[in-house]
Amino acid sequence: MITTQEISQIRQQVRAWHAKGETVAFVPTMGNLHQGHITLIKEAVKRADHVVASIFVNPMQFGQNEDLDAYPRTLAADQQALTDAGAELLFTPTPEIIYPKGMDQQSFVEVPNISEQLCGASRPGHFRGVATVVCKLFNIVQPDIALFGRKDFQQLLVIETMVADLSMPIEIIGVDTIREASGLAMSSRNGYLSQAQKDKAATLKQTMDTMSVAIQQGVSIANAIQTGNSQLCEAGFRPDYLEVRSTTDLSQASDENSSLVILAAAYMGDTRLIDNLCFTR
Ligand code: PAF
Repeated sequence: MITTQEISQIRQQVRAWHAKGETVAFVPTMGNLHQGHITLIKEAVKRADHVVASIFVNPMQFGQNEDLDAYPRTLAADQQALTDAGAELLFTPTPEIIYPKGMDQQSFVEVPNISEQLCGASRPGHFRGVATVVCKLFNIVQPDIALFGRKDFQQLLVIETMVADLSMPIEIIGVDTIREASGLAMSSRNGYLSQAQKDKAATLKQTMDTMSVAIQQGVSIANAIQTGNSQLCEAGFRPDYLEVRSTTDLSQASDENSSLVILAAAYMGDTRLIDNLCFTR
């Protein structure tokens, strides 16, 4: 696998593949790769002739008091994992390469409505940062398809909406969440948790499972959320939000919606974890 910080080298290689009629899949990441990322790469290998990945801890999507500096950076291990999984090209830009004029002077992409709620309400500017960097990475790599984990359900919707709204010729593929045996969704931020916290954090998935069954059995959404919040607090979580929404546009779930998603964000100690569960009723 070739690792480069050169935009021109990425473009040249992808252009050469496209000239031969070969397809290119792209998996953008912030590094510190776990099995969830590796599953994205392996899925990309199945779907395209070549796989390009990126590792960039994007400062624009972190709030002022968030974990930008602490975010784990493990390039050598990531390079090995990407090579083993079948990626051929890795883009590892610096913030100066992505935002040469500084973030204040950077044009940005804002996806309305979807970006403002849930994680967007708790982390103002987060989805502007995500949409801007993903748009920029798409313009650099120019892939045919791009793959994202469904764990970041709202992020996936933001990116799908951006691609549709801006007529980007890229197919977006969502890949199912990979979980620990306990049910805890894999995340780079799990590395911040002690073993005891990890054990307790498995309650997040159990809570969503219980809620979905209850709603399917006729319990009202409001009551299911109330019980779910209590369950999370008992397990030692500090819930940020626990909501049931329509899967298509994250609008409030009503009795008419049949395709629903439970979206959860909760702190275990100082670590903010997110997860979601789709179900029908
Ligand atoms: O999901 C992530 O790791 C990041 O939000 C992404 C999509 C790589 C953009 O920085």
